[in-house]
Amino acid sequence: MSRPRGVQQSRDSRAGASALSSVAGEAAGRGLHVAIIMDGNGRWAKERGQPRALGHRAGVAALRRTVEGAPELGIERLTVFGFSTENWNRPAREISELMGLLKAYFRSDLARLERDGVKVRIVGRRTGLQPDILDIVEQAEARTARNDRFHLQVAFNYGGQADIVDAARAFALKVQAGLAAAEDLTEALFEAHLSTAPAPAPDLIIRTSGESRLSNFLLWECAYAELIFQPVYWPDYGPEHLKSAIEEFRRRERRFGLVPAEPVSDDTILAAG
Ligand code: FPP
Repeated sequence: MSRPRGVQQSRDSRAGASALSSVAGEAAGRGLHVAIIMDGNGRWAKERGQPRALGHRAGVAALRRTVEGAPELGIERLTVFGFSTENWNRPAREISELMGLLKAYFRSDLARLERDGVKVRIVGRRTGLQPDILDIVEQAEARTARNDRFHLQVAFNYGGQADIVDAARAFALKVQAGLAAAEDLTEALFEAHLSTAPAPAPDLIIRTSGESRLSNFLLWECAYAELIFQPVYWPDYGPEHLKSAIEEFRRRERRFGLVPAEPVSDDTILAAG
């Protein structure tokens, strides 16, 4: 496992590793995992005197641009928040628009994603999704299952708290069935039951539109993520904004609960024997 930049490895390297439950993509020696809360579609539309639906449609174009620009920024995995468990409380028309956009996105982009080596995964609750949505989601996952150049994860019908509850329930059912023992539960075993498993945790979570909240996104997985809030509405987002977020991320020192790296002098090495 490669060491996060700027982190002093402990004497027993296993101590550092076991302290990390949600090992982030880069810390696990992989490319960056960036997660995005695509916020501001409604305000973007309102400022233009347009219905909210138009903001969501422009949001799909922003998603396309962002996915295309991500690999050359060293990003290997992108998780986007497409529909939250709380979004069911929006007006029926808007819910139906968002469902329709997911279908339209995969209908128009799946062949290209497949060809470009993108592996698609939908994370979140499958229960409650209409059969036509389930159908397109399963198709997108099946057709891209063997790809691994880039990972696109769409959190859809996803809520961080719901995902933690679902994981707890899944593990409890195993205990009830005699397939697992409660005392065996560790952070690593628990997170293997999340809908995001086995993906590494995000290195960076971005929220657009200037709001500074996580809004129930990746609550377990955010443990060591860097957070960046960008004051741009999602429909205006593109690779240039992502590049500037990555540049800011690169300036941060990630310590994962360890101590900052310090130059080691010859005296220290001699004293340590
Ligand atoms: C938040 O903006 C955005 C959403 C609730 C949905 C995000 C969906 C898209 C970008 C459409 C494409 C998605 C997929 C997965 C194809 P908001 O409506 O809360 O904006 P506001 O805060 O300005 O009202």
